[in-house]
Amino acid sequence: MKLFLDTASIDEIREINRWGVLGGVTTNPTLVGKERQDPDKVWRQILEEVDGDISLETTEEAPEAMYRQGVELAQLGTNAVVKVPMTPAGLEAGRRLTDEGIRINVTLVFSPTQAILAAEIGAYIVSPFLGRIDDAASDGMHALRQITEIYAIQGYDTNVLAASLRHPMHIVEAALAGADIATMPYEVFTKLVKHPLTDIGLERFHADWTTLQDELRGGLENEKEAKA
Ligand code: E4P
Repeated sequence: MKLFLDTASIDEIREINRWGVLGGVTTNPTLVGKERQDPDKVWRQILEEVDGDISLETTEEAPEAMYRQGVELAQLGTNAVVKVPMTPAGLEAGRRLTDEGIRINVTLVFSPTQAILAAEIGAYIVSPFLGRIDDAASDGMHALRQITEIYAIQGYDTNVLAASLRHPMHIVEAALAGADIATMPYEVFTKLVKHPLTDIGLERFHADWTTLQDELRGGLENEKEAKA
């Protein structure tokens, strides 16, 4: 399962990218809006920084305008993936984009029927929003499992991207459910590496190593004194 960052912050992206595990980035209008900069500049920086798929979202509402915006976004970089919403307009624009070989990510997906539609238009990625399904008192992980099972049975090759993940167990469960990609905010990504036993273990190793160094230094000093 590839690990993506769900952010438009270049600082967050650069930090996690140094770990060597960043498979890509997802952005959306809310995340880009938080950067308070020209979106074009934000997207270009991310596309250059990460050697992986970067989702850039369309904002036009009418199919023709959305399609044209999608073509422009795809031209920003070879690693650009165009996000279209799961709406009739998104399906129409998305189909035209996939027919032209442009890779699309169908976003705002909340049900298996929507995921089937995304696969049928040849989407490269489908993004079920697990956390938001949970927020609506439903079971996001159950929806994800249904989608991965349907895709396996039907032989769809659309990649399932588990989105709207809120905590590390979401990533564990998404991996067990067979998601191809998990995207998460910086705060969740940094939690993946943490374990209190790692910190305790490291502290003990450092202390034991320091003790050994002190003893060796003491031994050398005694030898020098004996020779003098
Ligand atoms: C994915 O592409 C979306 O940007 C994202 O995961 C939405 O997450 P949220 O529900 O935490 O806003």
